[in-house]
Parts: sequence; structure tokens; C-alpha cells
Amino acid sequence: MRQRTIGNVQVSAVGLGGMPMSIEGRPDRSRSIDTIVAALDAGVTLIDTADAYHIGGDEVGHNESLIAEALAGWGGDTSQVLVATKGGHRRPGDGSWNVKGDPAYLKQAAEASLKRLGVDAIGLYQYHRPDPEVAYADSIGALRDLLDEGKIKLAGISNANPDQIREAQEILGGRLASVQNQFSPAYRSSQPELELCDELGIAFLPWSPLGGISKAGELGEKFEKFARIGDDHGVSPQQVALAWELSLSPRVIPIPGASRPESIRDSVKAADLELTEAELLDLG
Ligand SMILES: NC(=O)c1ccc[n+]([C@@H]2O[C@H](COP(=O)([O-])OP(=O)(O)OC[C@H]3O[C@@H](n4cnc5c(N)ncnc54)[C@H](OP(=O)(O)O)[C@@H]3O)[C@@H](O)[C@H]2O)c1
Repeated sequence: MRQRTIGNVQVSAVGLGGMPMSIEGRPDRSRSIDTIVAALDAGVTLIDTADAYHIGGDEVGHNESLIAEALAGWGGDTSQVLVATKGGHRRPGDGSWNVKGDPAYLKQAAEASLKRLGVDAIGLYQYHRPDPEVAYADSIGALRDLLDEGKIKLAGISNANPDQIREAQEILGGRLASVQNQFSPAYRSSQPELELCDELGIAFLPWSPLGGISKAGELGEKFEKFARIGDDHGVSPQQVALAWELSLSPRVIPIPGASRPESIRDSVKAADLELTEAELLDLG
């Protein structure tokens, strides 16, 4: 598969998002393991997760544990696989989400993720979502300390605006490796962050790149240009959406979610789908 880079690490141009395998509507554990293994077999070397991908309050890290289990049982070279996790978001177990970004909490959360993933250092650790109660500089300071202590190899941020990207880059001393924001045919308002990442040489990981778990299947009905161009190439509208995102900058690495092997097997083909200039212009 075509490759891209996050920091100094080469990864597949299309990654796997783990969220659908651990939140509401998730499949049983064996189908999830099959999905992760299908991604690895198809050449995916970037898996995105978070400690907050779980349902019950007593199962924090459900998704991280699934990924660790799938990697442990897979026969391939796991040293080439970058697992990107996140901290700073929490689910108390009543279906809601909240944020907690104080440095002491983030460090403790990173330590817990490290143990669940069974690694000496987390490949990429991302601050999940800004906490309005905590100065952004303080939260990012925790990432800087984790980098300096060798607990994480790369640092990233998520749900950040351009000012926060610049601030994080400064606090990390130029070591901000990635920004993960919502971006898809349905949600294009992270274009300024995408362009800033392109300019600064930072990886940009579109989240919900197909429009989100409940909307991804209808992408072709909602955005008929993606369906029409897909028909012309004999591929799914979802592949066209991912190929379009990849065309926007060499820094873009979409992380489509999946809870079925077929979904991720289809999505990875977007890395090798060539759209013409005219088609890309049409998609806007
Ligand atoms: N940083 C953040 O705040 C944040 C927020 C949300 C998500 N994320 C990350 O971004 C990842 C992706 O977002 P998402 O999972 O919310 O939404 P998404 O990637 O837009 O959509 C996921 C859904 O798309 C379906 N799908 C995948 N490939 C397909 C294909 N080729 N054809 C048809 N359907 C396909 C899957 O269906 P099946 O389930 O049937 O396989 C899956 O449930 C998440 O998994 C998570 O890692 C981050």
C-alpha cells in the first residue's frame, strides 16, 4: 500500500479507526479481532484508538485491549505497526463523554494505556480534546514531559484549532507529529487545520472520514458525485471519499473506522485509487 509519514515513522496511507469495535453497537470480540487482523493482512500499519473507546465505566481501554490482543495473535511483523492512542476524554458509563486535561491526569492515563497496549513506549499519544478548565499549554506540557521521559515516541493533538496547533508545536519544541480532526465530504470545516498541517509538515488524520459510524453507509446517497465517480471506477463511494481526502495533501492519512473485515478491506484500496484532475475538481 502507498505509504505516508507521521513524524519519522512510515505508515500505510490509510489507517484503521478502532472506535466502532468498542462503543455502542459494537460487534462481539471475535469479529473485532477478525477486523483488526484483516486490516493488518491488507497492509494497514496505523491503528487509531483511545482509552475512552468503551461503553461501561468499568471497561476503560476496551479498544486498546482489543488491539493489543489482535496484534499479539497476528503472525506478522508488529514492529512496523504504529498504534496511536489518546487520552483526556472520558466516559463515565452513562453514555456521555467528558474531558479531563490536567497534566497529572494525562500522565496517569498515558501510563495506563501503555500497560494495556503492552509496550515500553506508546507509538503515538494524542491529547484527545481540549479541556476548557485547563490551560492548553499545561495539557501539552504533559505530552512534552511524556516525550522527554520516553513514555511516548510521538505526540499528537486532536480537535484542535489553528492557534492550538501553533501553540502545541511551540511547546513541544517542533515535535508535534499529528493533528486529528473531523473531516469528510459532509464535514469540511477543518480545511484550515488541514492546510496548516500541510504548511508545517504535520500529519493530518481526518476522523470520521466517511461521515461517522451511523452515516458512512449512506455516503453515496448523500453525495452523489462520490457515487458516480465510484461507478466510473467500479469502486465504492467510500473509497472515492478516502482517495479524495488523500489527494488534498501528502500529510493526510485517513483513519476509517470498521467493525467488519469487508469494510476495512474495501477502504484500504483507496490508497491506490487514482482520481483524475477533473474528478478531483468536481469533488471540490
Ligand atoms: N479524535 C476524535 O475526537 C475522534 C472522534 C471520532 C472518531 N475518531 C476516530 O476516527 C475513526 C473513524 O471515525 P468513525 O469510526 O467515527 O467514522 P467513519 O470512519 O466515518 O465511519 C465508520 C463506519 O464506516 C463503515 N465503513 C468503513 N469502511 C467502509 C467502506 N469501505 N464501505 C462502507 N462502509 C464502510 C464502517 O462500517 P462497519 O462498522 O459495518 O464496518 C464503520 O462503522 C474512529 O474509529 C476513531 O478511531 C476520533
